[in-house]
Amino acid sequence: RSHDLAVVGGDGIGPDVTAEALRCVDAAADRFGFRVTTTPYDLGAERWLRDGVALDEASTEKLRGHDAILLGAVGDPRVPPGILERGLVVALRVALRHAVNVRPVRLYPGVTSPVRDLTPERCDLVIVRENTEGLYAGGGSTVHDGTDNATAIQNSVNTTPATRACVDYAFRLARARRRRLTLCHKTNILVEAGRLWTSVVAETGHRFPDVEQGYVHADAMCQHLPLTPERFDVVVTDNLFGDIISDLGATLQGGLGLAASANIDPTGAHPGMFEPVHGSAPDIAGTGRANPAAAVLSAALCLAHLGEHDAALALEAATASVLAELGDGPDTTDTTTDTTTDTTTGIGARIADHV
Ligand code: NAI
Ligand code: MG
Repeated sequence: RSHDLAVVGGDGIGPDVTAEALRCVDAAADRFGFRVTTTPYDLGAERWLRDGVALDEASTEKLRGHDAILLGAVGDPRVPPGILERGLVVALRVALRHAVNVRPVRLYPGVTSPVRDLTPERCDLVIVRENTEGLYAGGGSTVHDGTDNATAIQNSVNTTPATRACVDYAFRLARARRRRLTLCHKTNILVEAGRLWTSVVAETGHRFPDVEQGYVHADAMCQHLPLTPERFDVVVTDNLFGDIISDLGATLQGGLGLAASANIDPTGAHPGMFEPVHGSAPDIAGTGRANPAAAVLSAALCLAHLGEHDAALALEAATASVLAELGDGPDTTDTTTDTTTDTTTGIGARIADHV
C-alpha cells in the first residue's frame, strides 16, 4: 500500500510540528508495512510576501490529486490578518468540499486539564462541525444611514445537502463509537436554521435507530462540556457553534498543543486535510518549544482516514505514552523546563521511538 501526501507546512511553528508529524508517520509506515510519499507545497506567508499569492489555481488543482493533505498552520505578523487564514485555509476547505470538520476531544492520561478532577474516562468525545456554511458563508452588508449609525447584516446560509452530509457523517461515527449523538444549536432563537438542522437530524436518525439522539443549546453546552463531558459521545453542530465549542474542547483536553482536526469531504471525492487546531504561534516560533502532539494526532486522523487503522492507533497510543511521561511538562511553552527532550524535535523523536 502506498499513500501520497501533500504537505503544507505553512508559517511559524507550522513547518516544525509538521516535520515531527511526518517523522512519526514514517515510523508507522515502517512498522505496518506501507509506503508514504510526500510533496511539499510552497504556500504561506513567504510565498505571499514574494509574489502576492495566497493560493493559486494550479496548486489547488495539484492538491486535489493527492490522497490527503497535511497542513501545519498559517499566519504571520508581516501579513495582514485574514489573507492567509481565509485565502488559503478556508479557501482550501471550500475548494475541496470539506463539509465536515472533525475535532476529537480526549483527555490523555497524565495530562492535566484545567477542569479540576476531570479524568480521561470522563472526557472522550468528538465534535463534528459543518465546515462550509452558516454565518461563515452567508456574506452580508453594512448600511450607513447618513448619521453615525450603521446597520451591519451578516447572513447565515444552511442547506440540506451540506447539513445532511455533516449529520450523516456524525451518525456513522456515533455508530462506530458509543452510539450517542447530540445536536448542538440554538433552535429556540435561530428558528429558520434550527428547524432545518432539527429536521435533518430527525430524518437521518431513522436510518440509525441504534444511535440515541439528544439536543443541547450552544450556550448550555458551554456549561455541560466542562462539567459533564461524559454526557457526550458525538456532538454535531454548525460552523460557528462548532468553532467556539471545539476551542472549549481543546481547553478541556489540556490546550491547543494537543488538539487535532480533520477536514473531510464526506463523499470521498476530494482529499481530506488534517491540521492541528492551533495557529502558527509567532510568539514561540523558532524556539523549539512548540508541542508537536497536535500535529502528530492530526496525522493519526489522516492515517485512519486512509484506512491505516492499526497505524493510526499506534500513533495515538505513542503520543499518549509520551504525554504521560512528560507529566505536567507537555506544555512546552513552560520556560522552566530544562530537560532537553521537552522540545519540538525531542518530543517528536520520542513519539516516533514509541511507534
Ligand atoms: P495560536 O494557536 O498560534 O497561539 C495561541 C497560543 O498558544 C500562543 O501563546 C502559542 O504560543 C500557544 N501555542 C499554539 N500552539 C502551540 C503548540 N503546538 N505548543 C505550544 N504552544 C502553542 O493562535 P494565535 O496566536 O491567535 O494566532 C497566530 C497566527 O496563527 C495568526 O496569524 C492566526 O490567524 C493564525 N491561525 C492559523 C490557523 C490555521 O492555520 N488553521 C488557526 C488559528 C490561528
Ligand atoms: Mg477556531
